[in-house]
Amino acid sequence: MKRIIALAACFPLLVVGIAFAKVGGGDVTIKYKKGEVVFSHDSHVGGVGLECTKCHDKPFTTSAQHKAVTMKQMQQGKSCGLCHNGKAAFTVKGNCKNCHK
Ligand code: HEC
Ligand code: HEC
Ligand code: HEC
Repeated sequence: MKRIIALAACFPLLVVGIAFAKVGGGDVTIKYKKGEVVFSHDSHVGGVGLECTKCHDKPFTTSAQHKAVTMKQMQQGKSCGLCHNGKAAFTVKGNCKNCHK
């Protein structure tokens, strides 16, 4: 618990530090048992124009602190499903290949 609080306190600093080097956290590979999905900061921040705070510290922190979710949880609004719900962005109930290359 202490570590989580410490991370939450440090994150804004981390964000400011890295923001100048590349767009946000760059391309982030999220691995699961049978594959991986690459998340692009470039397209979400540069392309779509989302602010960092839309995703940090909730629902995401860093790869090291990644909390694995299932697609079922995503369909209920967790993780990518926060926006990929058919309203803010294409839904996780289909479009598998958009994320799973
Ligand atoms: C649409 C959502 C979204 C937005 C907007 C976003 N990020 Fe991220 N960011 C993520 C995800 C997803 C991860 C990976 C964390 C995980 O796997 O749980 C991440 C990880 C990071 C990391 C850690 C990289 C690593 O490899 O662990 C940094 C640093 C970061 N983001 C900075 C930023 C900054 C700075 C901005 C704004 C310019 C930003 N992010 C905007 C979703 C987002
Ligand atoms: C918006 C992007 C996105 C879309 C669309 C998407 N997924 Fe995923 N999927 C992910 C991410 C990211 C993970 C890894 C989640 C984690 O480990 O935190 C994942 C994990 C999974 C997993 C492993 C976890 C589990 O639920 O068993 C399966 C299987 C999967 N996806 C299948 C699918 C299928 C089938 C579709 C289409 C109906 C789909 N995904 C659509 C992003 C997406
Ligand atoms: C804060 C809202 C938000 C979150 C969270 C979010 N996205 Fe997106 N994403 C968008 C929007 C908005 C678009 C552009 C509209 C569209 O394509 O429907 C987009 C577009 C995309 C695209 C198409 C553009 C590209 O990069 O090729 C992919 C793939 C994608 N998101 C994957 C993901 C994955 C994987 C996650 C979770 C790790 C995620 N997104 C989390 C809002 C979000």
